[in-house]
Amino acid sequence: MSLSVNERKVAIVGCGFVGSATAFALMQSGLFTEMVLVDVDRDRAEGEALDIAHGMPFASPMNIYAGSYDDAADAVLIIVTAGANQQPGETRLDLVHKNVRIFKSIIPEIAQRDFGGILLVVSNPVDILTYVALKLSDLPENRVIGSGTVLDSARFKYILGEHLGVDPRNVHARIIGEHGDSEIAVWSTANVSGIPVNDFCELRGHFEHEESMQRIAEDVKNSAYEIIAKKKATYFGIAMAVKRICEAIVRDEKPILPVSNYQHGIHGLHDVVLSMPAVVGKDGIEYQVPAPLSDDELARLHASADTLKAIIAELDL
Ligand code: NAI
Ligand code: LAC
Repeated sequence: MSLSVNERKVAIVGCGFVGSATAFALMQSGLFTEMVLVDVDRDRAEGEALDIAHGMPFASPMNIYAGSYDDAADAVLIIVTAGANQQPGETRLDLVHKNVRIFKSIIPEIAQRDFGGILLVVSNPVDILTYVALKLSDLPENRVIGSGTVLDSARFKYILGEHLGVDPRNVHARIIGEHGDSEIAVWSTANVSGIPVNDFCELRGHFEHEESMQRIAEDVKNSAYEIIAKKKATYFGIAMAVKRICEAIVRDEKPILPVSNYQHGIHGLHDVVLSMPAVVGKDGIEYQVPAPLSDDELARLHASADTLKAIIAELDL
């Protein structure tokens, strides 16, 4: 039996760069009236809660405090951002052993309290850790979500918008697969306000399609490496992506988002968690969208899934 859920309460586990930036974005969102910050470093959680609370006179009132898993248990959303981040030159997958160990200490704390809300995983490697969270928590699949390629898709839209001189909100394009080096830019259906992306490029005077597509997809994939090399960590972009996922859930908005979710069947993917578009609402993953892919994109999606499955096979869960 699950605890009853407080629809206006969120908990964040891990209050480092990503957790605190997320807390700051959510404080300003007006989505919640209560926010619990949990961290093994209690001082860190208390410091972040205080600092963010001092902005309250300029935002909607909310109760924000450092707390425990008991405090978090009735939240509608628990967001996990705890764990090691990448050092310059490290890939997300290099973090797997450290962060699986950390998840083994966090997820049972949540599961044993009959958590009835949605578990949103952000820590990296996010697809593997979402799979781990699903297995360790025994929660239903629809209620365990990874932030996945929502961030990469935002980077894709932003970079394409800059290239074409249009508002990124008019760019309809997404990244799927692993949030990481094997991710796939879905060019075959990318469009700007319904106009196929390459036609729109020509309207804007760009004719070197192959070269531009390759460069843009590489820039998206390497965004995190570039930011980490310059400032050690990424956190503002992911905080906005997490806020978007929270809005979808708390307001039951049902947008289609490329979140990381458990696959069993679409495009022949089985027993793996990666990003594929899904309708996201109050029940978490409400419908997995069988978005069309070209043959090449499909082959690359399978290669991405195989990369993740090989790592999952080595885990002791
Ligand atoms: P950070 O080192 O600044 O913060 C990590 C926090 O986790 C620390 O405050 C630490 O005390 C806490 N922590 C460690 N073990 C814990 C435990 N057992 N229970 C509770 N808290 C614990 O790292 P940062 O930069 O905030 O990154 C956090 C994670 O988010 C990393 O894995 C990073 O790769 C990932 N990330 C994911 C993104 C995505 O798009 N999914 C984007 C950016 C970062
Ligand atoms: C990102 C993190 C590092 O910014 O996953 O993509």
